[in-house]
Amino acid sequence: MSTLVIIPTYDERESLPGTLERLRTAEPDVDVLVVDDASPDGTGRWAEEVAARDPRVHVLHRTGKGGLGAAYVAGFGWGLERGYDVLCEMDADGSHRPEELSRLLDRAADPDAPALVLGSRWVPGGRVVNWPWHRQLLSRGGNTYVQLLLGVAVRDATGGFRAFRADTLRAIDLAAVESHGYCFQVDMTWRVLRGGGTVAEVPITFVERTVGESKMSRAIVVEALTKVTAWGLAHRGRQLRRLLPGGRRRP
Ligand code: GDD
Ligand code: MN
Repeated sequence: MSTLVIIPTYDERESLPGTLERLRTAEPDVDVLVVDDASPDGTGRWAEEVAARDPRVHVLHRTGKGGLGAAYVAGFGWGLERGYDVLCEMDADGSHRPEELSRLLDRAADPDAPALVLGSRWVPGGRVVNWPWHRQLLSRGGNTYVQLLLGVAVRDATGGFRAFRADTLRAIDLAAVESHGYCFQVDMTWRVLRGGGTVAEVPITFVERTVGESKMSRAIVVEALTKVTAWGLAHRGRQLRRLLPGGRRRP
């Protein structure tokens, strides 16, 4: 099974080297694609130097900060063109421990593998280390909101440590994915589920970064809240129409 790990970066010059080194040690056989949005701190240039001496490391440069979602869509396109079997998402800052990637990959390699394997902080065995209380609240609250509005049983739909089977991504119209920020994660989960795919969660320990800064912003929270609410209302509207007389005959 050929695997590509996609790492989006924006100003991760301090954190990416350690993460990459740990990843190459933990999983020497996977390929890595760094998707850099022209980081002012030179992350992209540094990644390019690594790529020049390590054939398993690749870099995709984008012209400016376009959000996590757009970076992943570009990375998925790159990986699908090159025929990888499994495409993973991973943060650059060490929060997603490279040593735990094998758990996701093992599950994705099962004969009855789910369409999407999620590294989950909020299932039994999952953990968060060093996150301030307001981030925990935001993540738990956000995930509860997603579960209630979309009616899904996924505990950590906002998490960003995951493994997609290539055919799962091929079945999704990636060009139509408009989420810029972290709600991209919910967007992709929701698209998999709506397409009839299964999602499995494996527990992970999420460790807050020790260097660099989070790119979480008010705009990212607002986008997530607005989009999840809109998807939820549309979903509940469809359910309601099916209950109305004659509703079942309509597509
Ligand atoms: N290319 C690119 N462009 N990368 C970006 C951008 C962007 O606009 N914004 C963020 N990133 C990269 C960061 O450089 C990092 O590698 C990764 O995306 C995650 O960003 P962080 O800023 O470290 O996220 P976080 O720690 O606040 O949020 C974590 O929790 C969220 C909520 O559960 C992440 O795991 C998110 O994926 C998750 O949705
Ligand atoms: Mn982070």
